[in-house]
Amino acid sequence: MIRLVDVTKSYGGEPALRNVTGEIQAGEIVVVCGPSGSGKSTLIRTINRLEPIQAGQIFVDGRDIHLSGWSVNDLRSTIGFVFQSFGLFQHLDALANVTLALRHVRGLPRKEAEAIGLAQLERFGLAGKARHMPSQLSGGQQQRVAIARALVMRPSVLLLDEPTSALDPEMVGEVLRTIEQLAGDGLTMVCVTHEMGFAKRVAKRVWLMAAGELKADVEKDMFFANDAGPDVREFLKNY
Ligand SMILES: Nc1ncnc2c1ncn2[C@@H]1O[C@H](COP(=O)(O)OP(=O)(O)OP(=O)(O)O)[C@@H](O)[C@H]1O
Ligand SMILES: [Mg+2]
Repeated sequence: MIRLVDVTKSYGGEPALRNVTGEIQAGEIVVVCGPSGSGKSTLIRTINRLEPIQAGQIFVDGRDIHLSGWSVNDLRSTIGFVFQSFGLFQHLDALANVTLALRHVRGLPRKEAEAIGLAQLERFGLAGKARHMPSQLSGGQQQRVAIARALVMRPSVLLLDEPTSALDPEMVGEVLRTIEQLAGDGLTMVCVTHEMGFAKRVAKRVWLMAAGELKADVEKDMFFANDAGPDVREFLKNY
C-alpha cells in the first residue's frame, strides 16, 4: 500500500531523511518510533505530500504521490492524517468538523454528510458531543473527533503523528483504544508514537528512525524480543 524508495529530504541543506526505503502492506499497522529529531514527523508528512522530497519516490496504492498527477483532493481522500495538536477548526462544532470534507471535497448534501458524520461520532461514543465546539471538549474527545474526521472520507491509509502526546495522561488511554478499535478494519495505519505498550498490542511491524535513517523495520515480536540488533536494543533501553 505504501512504498518508499530511496527517499531523501532536507530542510535548507540539513538532511532530515536519508535514503529511506521501506514497504507497508495493505492492512498493516506500523508504529514509527525513534528519538526526537530523528525524522519521524518528516517521514509521515512526506507520505501525505505535506512536505516535498528532494529525491526518491513514494508510492501509495501503486501511484507516485509526488508526481503531479494526484490532486490535493485525491490525496486527502485517500490518505487521512491525524495531528498531534488535533487541528480542529475552532469555529466549527464537532459534527461540522467531521463533515467538512464530505461536503466540500466530496460535494455531499448536508443531510447525507451529517448522517455519515453522526454514525462515525456514535461509533466513537461521541454522538452526544456533535454540537459541542472544540473548546467545550476534552483533549481526548477533540482527538477522537479529529480521527472521526479523517475516517469519514474512507481513506485507504491513516497517518497519525503522535496522536496522544499532547494529551493529559488520563486521556491517552481512550484515544489509544479508539485507534485500536480501527485495527482489523483493513485500514493501513502508520502511527508515530512513544507509547510502546500500544506498539506491543497493536503494531504489526515497528520502524525505528535515527538521524533521518530507517534503522530498523521489523516484526513487532522481534522488535520487543530485543532481537533486532544494537540500534533497537539501545532505543529500548529507555523504555
Ligand atoms: N519545518 C522545518 N524546517 C527546518 N527544519 C526542520 C523542519 N521540520 C523538521 N526539521 C528538522 O528535521 C529533523 C527531523 O525533524 P522531525 O520533526 O521529523 O523529527 P521527529 O522525529 O518528528 O521529532 P519529535 O519526536 O521531536 O517530534 C530535525 O533535525 C528538525 O530540526
Ligand atoms: Mg515529530
